[in-house]
Amino acid sequence: MIVPAAGVRIDPLTSDDIPDCVVLERLLFAGDSPWTDAAFAGELAGRDTRYFAARAPDAGLVGYAGIALLGSADARESEIRTIAVDPRRRRAGIGTRLFDTLLAEADRHGGPVFLEVRTDNEPAIALYRRYRFDVLGVRKRYYQPSGADAYTMCRPVEPVPLDERSVS
Ligand SMILES: CC(C)(COP(=O)(O)OP(=O)(O)OC[C@H]1O[C@@H](n2cnc3c(N)ncnc32)[C@H](O)[C@@H]1OP(=O)(O)O)[C@@H](O)C(=O)NCCC(=O)NCCS
Repeated sequence: MIVPAAGVRIDPLTSDDIPDCVVLERLLFAGDSPWTDAAFAGELAGRDTRYFAARAPDAGLVGYAGIALLGSADARESEIRTIAVDPRRRRAGIGTRLFDTLLAEADRHGGPVFLEVRTDNEPAIALYRRYRFDVLGVRKRYYQPSGADAYTMCRPVEPVPLDERSVS
């Protein structure tokens, strides 16, 4: 369990959190088919998915994030499924703590990390760029019913410097 300075802690998201997640989803993704109870339940039940909650001592759930660990043993990759922070708690480092937790899972799994983000979502794009995610391309009208475009972004695998590679 990670305990950030402000007393917010990061731990696994559970089915008891789903109603709070759904409230935040409707607030944050109103025009883009916010996830329902069933969608969250399906994600939490997935064998390859990992979901985390950010909890504040005074407010309960203040954010959530999830990742899917995909691919086969010789071609692994991960996909960021979602990340969201309560608007009243933004710019306090909670998104960073959640994203660190997702990327720690991705690093243990191995391979590149992909995500989709609305092309007009400047806060999220700024967050991802801090972690060396680059734009791979644009998916036209990816979000519905809004019809907003998405960037596909990727954090490539860190190349191992030549002098650190094992020589056989
Ligand atoms: C994206 C999001 C999760 C960031 O959460 P947060 O808790 O505010 O993030 P942090 O406080 O950790 O910010 C980390 C960095 O992200 C960038 N960032 C965050 N909000 C930003 C904003 N409004 N404008 C510009 N950059 C921003 C900054 O680089 C920031 O670092 P800084 O505060 O030192 O400048 C949050 O804005 C959110 O929930 N947005 C709505 C849901 C969403 O769009 N999710 C992404 C779907 S793809």
